[in-house]
Amino acid sequence: ANIDTLVTQGHLILGPASGIQACGDIGPGRMLEPNDLVHALEQQLAAGPLAGQTVMVTAGPTHEPLDPVRYLANRSSGKMGFAIAAEAARLGARVILITGPVHMDAPRGLHCIRVETADQMLEAVLRDLSGVDLFIGAAAVCDVRPTTVSEEKLKKSKDDLSSIALTENPDIILQVSTHPNRPATVIGFAAETSDLDARAREKLDRKALDWIIANDVSQGQVFAKDHTACRLIGHSAEDIHFTGTKETVARELFDQLLPILIERT
Ligand code: PMT
Repeated sequence: ANIDTLVTQGHLILGPASGIQACGDIGPGRMLEPNDLVHALEQQLAAGPLAGQTVMVTAGPTHEPLDPVRYLANRSSGKMGFAIAAEAARLGARVILITGPVHMDAPRGLHCIRVETADQMLEAVLRDLSGVDLFIGAAAVCDVRPTTVSEEKLKKSKDDLSSIALTENPDIILQVSTHPNRPATVIGFAAETSDLDARAREKLDRKALDWIIANDVSQGQVFAKDHTACRLIGHSAEDIHFTGTKETVARELFDQLLPILIERT
């Protein structure tokens, strides 16, 4: 709560790093290594083109529990969202990265909030939304969750596992794009296995987005991969195609958007 208060007040939190603690425990709680601190401070002092702007990125999957052992999830690794967040930080923005469960350390020089479920992701997004200039929803948020979460592990023998009642999750990016404190720019993703163009444009309008990044995730593409191919679709300009590593695509995406982001803010 104290950290979130400082973030809401506009402070950049550096660390903590994970590792062996003085008390013998292992986990988050160490001061960053001096080099990492220097790197983060250099980034903040080197006024990049996004200096003074706050960027919020959602990344990764969400896990929707069924019982203490099982959950509903998806194949997102967080790589795309982390690459976007790291690039925004490199450009001098104050970055808040909100991620579902992934196996990656947070990129340097940004504030990373780790959540599990769609509800927790929504809560984290809304808590720090005021003052955000650019929101990019790269997270693969589960659209539904099990209606009932069992306290006990469900047993095939005595519980009915043949069908699971599901409840719709909140649409996080729609709540952002229709929020009284709406960021100046809201960009979403569309992950489809067919009719990509039509479905992406439908989401662009239905979710009240400024742009949508459409990616074809059929045949095992994109999810958890180092490379991607996607298309930036707006309301007026021509579509812009990107292909390459997720880091390269993140850099080229900001190259395209920078002049507009600076003007809109
Ligand atoms: O994480 P990686 O392994 O690198 O994979 C990258 C990716 C495939 C996850 C990424 O490129 C991507 O496509 N992310 C969006 C995946 C997704 O959920 O797409 P969608 O079409 O279902 O959602 C559309 C938009 O609404 C997205 O911006 C999503 O973040 C948002 N959404 C969806 C559902 C929901 N309940 N809340 C949301 O905010």
